[in-house]
Amino acid sequence: RSPLMQSNYKLFTELLSTLPKLNRNNPPVDLYQYQGFWYLPKVLEGVIQVQQQFQARPTDIIIAGWPKTGNTWLKALCFAIATRKQHNQTKNPLLTNLPHNLVPILEVEILNNPKIRETLHHSVLSTHMPYTSLPKSITTSGCKIIYICRDPKDTFVSFYHFFRRSHVLSTSAGGSITDLNSSFHDEFDLFCEGKTSAGSFWDHVLGYYKASLDRPDMFLFLKYEGLVEDPVFYVKKLARYMDIPFSVEEELEGIPEKIVKMCSFESLSGLEVNKTGKYYVHESYMLDNNSFFRKGNIGDWKNHLTPEMAKKIDEIAAERLGGFGFSF
Ligand code: A3P
Repeated sequence: RSPLMQSNYKLFTELLSTLPKLNRNNPPVDLYQYQGFWYLPKVLEGVIQVQQQFQARPTDIIIAGWPKTGNTWLKALCFAIATRKQHNQTKNPLLTNLPHNLVPILEVEILNNPKIRETLHHSVLSTHMPYTSLPKSITTSGCKIIYICRDPKDTFVSFYHFFRRSHVLSTSAGGSITDLNSSFHDEFDLFCEGKTSAGSFWDHVLGYYKASLDRPDMFLFLKYEGLVEDPVFYVKKLARYMDIPFSVEEELEGIPEKIVKMCSFESLSGLEVNKTGKYYVHESYMLDNNSFFRKGNIGDWKNHLTPEMAKKIDEIAAERLGGFGFSF
């Protein structure tokens, strides 16, 4: 660490000792509550660095979403749309890179590369940070936010599998899971209560949704299910929202359809980089790229949740979000 990072780190560890803490035992990780959301310490360190250092540009496009709601796919689509004049479909960087390495997650990347904004050659960035914790430069600079959400039942199932892969046999993620059966039920309860290692899904969606009602021009609110149903429609909508609409010629050439094909689950998950590559999160934590591509289906929750579990999630969704006019 540089001297500046050392002193920041010292301040960060002091801050940690003052925050509410949740000891989880399966896996054995500690979560800390900051600005109403629970975090793993390393993620929180990144969040605080983003709050202190990150300077958004007015032309930036920020992709936001709770983990497992379709961020990887949306990043691939937005990257392809934003850089389509530089790269054609046959030599596209998406064919040799995990989308997270092309559209970095701010709070992860800033710890590896504090000058993240200066070194990026396009305007698409991403974050899992809650709306209420975003740095001022994002909320006031005029940049646009594309938010993705997904049925919470599928989100939970996807999250559980991802979480299990990153924690089984992994001490680098903070500890390993010892009892898989009870971990599914524990994780379900914690998801319902908003105490996961990614914070509360409910508060995350609600924070962005409420902000989008106040400032509709700043947000494009998308649902994973909508993207699955009509990806070409949404690719055109994304391009218009990003102020780079497809020209008549591009539409005649079928560029939106080609982008959809290149970014489809089948194409991305079949690439060598996504089958065998690793995603470096920080010095002691790596993930297999293929953990971001599991099934890519709507309704996989039916294979994992009991009817009671599904009912419980639907009830929480209705209670927490329904009153604001939001439904999945
Ligand atoms: P499943 O676990 O249900 O399969 P995130 O990118 O936010 O981490 O979300 C991961 C989810 O999106 C996983 O869902 C993953 O399989 C799915 N996914 C990844 N790439 C996709 C694509 N190109 N099209 C559709 N779904 C995709």
